[in-house]
Amino acid sequence: MPVTTQQLIQWKQQKRSIVALTAWDYAIAQILDAAGVDLILVGDSMAVVLGYETTLPITLDEMLYHAKAVRRGVKRAFLVVDLPFGTYQDIQQAMHSAVRVLKETGAQAVKLEGGYAAMIETIARLVQAGIPVMGHVGLTPQSIHQIGLRQQGKSEEDSERILNQAIALEQAGVFAIVLEHITADLAMQITQKLSIPTIGIGAGVHCDGQVLVTSDILGLSEKQPPFAKVYTNLRETITKAVQEYSLEVREKKFPE
Ligand code: KIV
Repeated sequence: MPVTTQQLIQWKQQKRSIVALTAWDYAIAQILDAAGVDLILVGDSMAVVLGYETTLPITLDEMLYHAKAVRRGVKRAFLVVDLPFGTYQDIQQAMHSAVRVLKETGAQAVKLEGGYAAMIETIARLVQAGIPVMGHVGLTPQSIHQIGLRQQGKSEEDSERILNQAIALEQAGVFAIVLEHITADLAMQITQKLSIPTIGIGAGVHCDGQVLVTSDILGLSEKQPPFAKVYTNLRETITKAVQEYSLEVREKKFPE
């Protein structure tokens, strides 16, 4: 049965952890979906897979192109697509971008970064228009030039600000919230306070689910954030395979 927003909320109530990962193409999406991942995110972190240094340059058209490929590989998981930087600056632009994502890719929801007042208003309008929205607070990489990539919510004031943003996002109607690189204690407070699921990344064990960037866990990224766990080293595996193939071609051992 395909995963729905209601199912995600029910899993929170049942304390059944939600497993989320990012995907950028058909093959990866198919593998993740068949392995039982609950939520697949076409995150704008894909910018790094495409060779950009930050998430800022990736365009809506690039996100749409990859999201369509991911969609073709996903049968069960709930599919969310990030709205990239500069595509939801005001309500009208956000509506236009989110509608394109849902119509053109077949994804079930969009994710937007930030919890300040104008963003809450934008999100409320998207939800009222029937667009499922996932929130994202704490470290928001699209604001890298304002807040850097450091852990958020360390001071009492900052922690209260993020908690209030999460509450406002729930009131605006998001079905889930990504909590990125905040203290485990703050993530626990938010998780207990909200009735929608929190999906943590570098936010400790108390969230309702966890998300990581797939190229990080597979050891494909050139560098990973400190909170990512590398489960296998595909860079090494691929290098060995390519070297073996190259040698066999040069020594005329392949094809046999
Ligand atoms: O872009 C992305 O991959 C994300 C995750 C890190 C949550 O937003």
